[in-house]
Amino acid sequence: MRRFVLSSCLLALAAASPSALAWGQLGHRLVAQLAERDLTPQARAQVDALLADEPDPTLGGIASWADTLREHDPDLGRRSAKWHYVNIGESGCRYQATRDCPNGDCVVEAIVAQSAILADTARPHAERVTALKFVVHFVGDAHQPMHAGYAHDKGGNTHQINHRGRGTNLHAFWDSGMLNSAGRRDADWLTHLATLPAPAPAARVLPPPAQDWAEAACRIAVAPGVYPARGRLGQDYVSAHLPTVEQQLRDAGARLGTLLNAALAPAAP
Ligand code: ADE
Ligand code: ZN
Repeated sequence: MRRFVLSSCLLALAAASPSALAWGQLGHRLVAQLAERDLTPQARAQVDALLADEPDPTLGGIASWADTLREHDPDLGRRSAKWHYVNIGESGCRYQATRDCPNGDCVVEAIVAQSAILADTARPHAERVTALKFVVHFVGDAHQPMHAGYAHDKGGNTHQINHRGRGTNLHAFWDSGMLNSAGRRDADWLTHLATLPAPAPAARVLPPPAQDWAEAACRIAVAPGVYPARGRLGQDYVSAHLPTVEQQLRDAGARLGTLLNAALAPAAP
């Protein structure tokens, strides 16, 4: 009995604890695999050199590394915990660095800072490897609308909902719940996302316009209908919002590819 009570408590805690993870493993992998298809030969060669010691030396293979730091590098996990999101929903989705990103601790400045480290070939190899892993992950995070939304509910983490009779929260539903409910096989997702239109090229590549990405993601999070009037979400919610999830993943993949090609271009002679 006591064990039952204890495990129920742990389960309840796990369900309730805020997640800073963004897109589940599938979403992060898809963003990375889309980018991987767009790499120039020069960027490909540098990515291969940077990831040579990884168990899975592909962008898809390292895409969720930043979400596992709490297990294998708790200190870096703590220092980078705020780099996965920026809450600007209460500010009309207008990002202001001093207000929204003190000490550079948010996803916008993390993308800018880690891209600069990645692009700097004078930096130690290990630092650039870590920067590559962070950039691949955070470009995905910046496109998850709940990672640029409201502070008051921790980006939907404390907004409880119910889908198909199971309790979850709005953040998790946008991370992975809607993707999983589509019933598509993992292998078919990449093919499907690649058919979606790529975003218009940005005026600037480096430093990456991460602020624009987060503000656009925020506008999705605060749009009417995203926060359901009732806690029970059905197929109509998924039909309305899954296309947005898919386009965000598509956009993130294309932008990540462009960013990596610029950061890993050969130095001008
Ligand atoms: N913690 C606080 N706000 C958050 C957000 N928007 N996403 C993830 N974790 C958070
Ligand atoms: Zn994350």
